[in-house]
Amino acid sequence: MSDQIGVTGLAVMGANLARNLARHGHQVVLHNRSRGRTDALVEQHGSEGDFVPTGTMEEFVGALQRPRKVIIMVQAGAATDAVIDEIAPLLEPGDVLMDGGNARFTDTIRRTEALTAQGLHFVGTGISGGEEGALNGPSIMPGGSAEAYELVGPLLESIAAVVDGQPCCTHVGESGAGHFVKMVHNGIEYADMQLIAEAYDLLRSGLGLSPAEIGDVFASWNDGDLESYLIEITAQVLRHTDADTGRPFVDVVLDEAEQKGTGRWTVQSALDLGVPVSGIAEAVFARALSGHREQRDAAQRVLPGPDTRWEVADRDAFIESVRQALYASKVVAYAQGFDQVTAGADQHGWDIDRAALARIWRGGCIIRARFLDRIAQVYTDEPDVTTLLTNDYFRGAVSEGQESWRQVVAGAARNGIPAPGFASALAYYDGLRADRLPAALIQGLRDLFGAHTYRRVDREGAFHTMWGEDGREVSA
Ligand code: 6PG
Repeated sequence: MSDQIGVTGLAVMGANLARNLARHGHQVVLHNRSRGRTDALVEQHGSEGDFVPTGTMEEFVGALQRPRKVIIMVQAGAATDAVIDEIAPLLEPGDVLMDGGNARFTDTIRRTEALTAQGLHFVGTGISGGEEGALNGPSIMPGGSAEAYELVGPLLESIAAVVDGQPCCTHVGESGAGHFVKMVHNGIEYADMQLIAEAYDLLRSGLGLSPAEIGDVFASWNDGDLESYLIEITAQVLRHTDADTGRPFVDVVLDEAEQKGTGRWTVQSALDLGVPVSGIAEAVFARALSGHREQRDAAQRVLPGPDTRWEVADRDAFIESVRQALYASKVVAYAQGFDQVTAGADQHGWDIDRAALARIWRGGCIIRARFLDRIAQVYTDEPDVTTLLTNDYFRGAVSEGQESWRQVVAGAARNGIPAPGFASALAYYDGLRADRLPAALIQGLRDLFGAHTYRRVDREGAFHTMWGEDGREVSA
C-alpha cells in the first residue's frame, strides 16, 4: 500500500531512507536546510520513485496531506531540537513527527511530552543498519503511542529488512522506548566489537597469524553459532590490504577507537538502573583507554610485562578455544543488554516485548546475528526468565565453553594481553553462579565505618553491631 511521507534532513542516512521509501512506492516529499542536497538527490536518483522536492519548511509542510507524516533525519541533539522548533508550529493536531536519529532517549521523552501537549504525535525511532541499511532495509525501532504506530507502522514496516517473511520493525513501546532500545543495541554493538577485537588480538599474539589469516578464521566462524554481520565484516576488514603501503589495513590504522556517545549513554543509563552491563562498560572504557595516547606512551616506556613468549602447542585447539571464549562472552553481553531493556521498561512503564525486539534485531541492524533467534525463542517460551544465561540453550553454550574460556582469560593475563571483555564476562558468569559472594564483608565494613546496617542470613530485619563498644548486635 503506497503512502506519502516527508523526509527532512538529506545527508547520507536521510537521502538513503528517502530512496528506500520511494523505491517501495511511497511518495516522498523532500526537504533539507540547504536546497542543494534536495536537488542533488532528485537529479541523481529521481528515477527511483515519486519524489517531491521542496524548498522552504512552509513549502515542505504544505506539500503533505493530512495527517502529515514527517521523519526528521538530522544529527541528534541541538540540530533535532532546531528542526522540531521550526516545523512543529506549522503542523496540525493529528500529524505525526518522527525522529530517526540516534537521539538520547531522555530527549525523546521530553520531546514526546512537549509535542503531545500540542496535539502532535511524536515517534522517536531507532534506525540501525548504517547507510547501506537505510537504503536496502534497516531494523526499525519506533516508540510512541499505539495510535501513532497505526498511522506510520505500515509505512515503516514496508521499508525494513525482512527475515523469515517478517519485517524487522515493531512498535517497541510508548514515548522514549524506541530510542532506549536503540541505545542498548548500540551498547551491545560496542561490547560485541570489543570481544571480536580481543579475539583477533589473542590469535595474533598467541599464534602469530597474519591479519589476513585471522580474517580466514573469522570467515570460517561465520558458518557456525557466531554467524553475524559483525563477524562477517571482521573477516573483510582483516583481509583488506592498504593500497599505498601494501601492508595489512589494520596495521596502518591508528589504534585509537572513537565514539559518538551511544555506548557511553548505555552505561550511564545502566548505572542509574543498577544493571551490571559490565561487557558494555568494558568496551566503552577500552575505547577510552585506547584514546589516552600520552598515558599509553608514558606507560609503554616503563611498565614491564611478563618475560614469557606465548607458546601455543596446538594451533587448531587454540583457535577453537578463542571461538568458544568469544561466543560465551558474547552471550553474556547480550544477556546483560536484555537485562537493561527489562529494567528500563520496568522503570518507565513501557510494555516492551523482548521476543519481538530480538526478532527485529535479526536483520538490518549492526548486531544482527543468528543467535537472536534463540533469544527470541527464550522470551517466547519463558517470558519470566530472570537471565538468558539460565535457559537450557545458553546455559549449555557458556558451560560447554567454560574450560576454554578460563584458559583463554588465564593465558591472556599470563602473557600480558589485555582482554577486559573476555575477563569481565567470565567474572560476571562466576559472580552470578556463586553460592556466596564477598558482599557480606562489604556490608560489615559499611556497618563498621558508617553504621549502615546489614541483614542476616538467619533472621529478618536490619542489624547493627556496636563495633566501637563491646561488639554486641542491636536491631536497627
Ligand atoms: C547503527 C549504528 C550507528 C552508530 C555507529 C557509530 O545501528 O546503525 O549503531 O547508529 O552511529 O555504529 O557509533 P559510534 O561512533 O559510537 O561507534
